Amino acid sequence: MKAAYITQPGPPENIRYGDLPPPQPGDMQALVKVAAVSVNPIDTYIRLGMVTMDFPKPYIVGCDVAGTVEAVGLRVKGLKPGDRVWGSNQGLLGRQGTFAEYAAVDEHWLYGTPENVSHRDAAAIALVGITAHLGLMRDAKLQPGEVLFVHGGSGGVGSCVVQMAKIVGARVITTAGSEEKAEICRRLGADLAIPYKVENVDEAIRRFAPHGVNVWWETLREQNLERAVGHLAFRGRLILMAGRDSRPLFPVGPFYVKDCSVHGFAMFNAPPDQQRRAAADVNRWLAEGKLRPQIGRVMKLAETAEAHRLQEDATLRKSGALAGKIVLEP
Ligand SMILES: NC(=O)c1ccc[n+]([C@@H]2O[C@H](COP(=O)([O-])OP(=O)(O)OC[C@H]3O[C@@H](n4cnc5c(N)ncnc54)[C@H](OP(=O)(O)O)[C@@H]3O)[C@@H](O)[C@H]2O)c1
Repeated sequence: MKAAYITQPGPPENIRYGDLPPPQPGDMQALVKVAAVSVNPIDTYIRLGMVTMDFPKPYIVGCDVAGTVEAVGLRVKGLKPGDRVWGSNQGLLGRQGTFAEYAAVDEHWLYGTPENVSHRDAAAIALVGITAHLGLMRDAKLQPGEVLFVHGGSGGVGSCVVQMAKIVGARVITTAGSEEKAEICRRLGADLAIPYKVENVDEAIRRFAPHGVNVWWETLREQNLERAVGHLAFRGRLILMAGRDSRPLFPVGPFYVKDCSVHGFAMFNAPPDQQRRAAADVNRWLAEGKLRPQIGRVMKLAETAEAHRLQEDATLRKSGALAGKIVLEP
């Protein structure tokens, strides 16, 4: 089968697109004929060698997948050939990645794709949808009427956080690097989208939420916690989930006197039952048209190296050239 893989960590040019033997599904696995995959920033960190985990050799890049079940292992109970499925959390913790024509995936990481949802949309929402759900529902316990702030409402995680917070009934503030991206955020439901390059974000937040922000979701890799904690309301929750090298100062005084809490998490640590609960809501909202994946680019699987270059430039060098997910198809 064709696959995008590396044999050594390094720059995007290390990604080869070529033939590898197709995987054999284990007893508890389904063999998925891949229809679409999507890129996440962690794919680029892994390829660069920034993530310390065990990886198979050669290592097929990528976490997210959508496609059709081709065959199932002896002990698979809930899936059969022909089922449309999506999943995430591959290419991590010793598991092989998804950027290939076929992927063998444990049944417990796969979810049925609703009839009216395309493979492209399912692949685009996978990791970011589960991440947003875990942070908002499990950790922040966002409530109707609360105010939520998230940086980058047109980005992969940000666009899911904006939409899910609106589904909960929260009031949503976000930022955008251009007026065009601010318009995307408003279309996704944001009550206030601040073009941060031309407007004063702190003043805009204070005008919109004079009593503070109940949940501050930080998507930036370099955090200003003085600022985040300053905007938190009494019993506010701070979500930290990006920037593995980040070591910012933490303003303890203003934090504890407001009874605030901080939640850090990495989605790949969440066990299958937690991810499945998140995926069930994602599926329902996708089918109802309440959750719309924000797709910035669609490319061919053969262009994986170029897709990594685009994602890495956006994430690590803040190119601003991307609005949402890069989806690739074989
Ligand atoms: N812990 C976890 O489980 C988990 C899961 C998924 C992702 N992550 C991490 O979360 C981060 C975001 O992931 P993603 O997939 O959403 O990436 P993404 O699609 O590239 O989005 C990043 C967003 O950040 C915004 N941004 C960049 N610089 C900014 C600045 N100075 N001020 C305000 N906004 C800025 C960009 O918006 P503009 O272009 O409008 O500036 C963009 O929308 C990454 O670091 C990723 O590794 C963690």
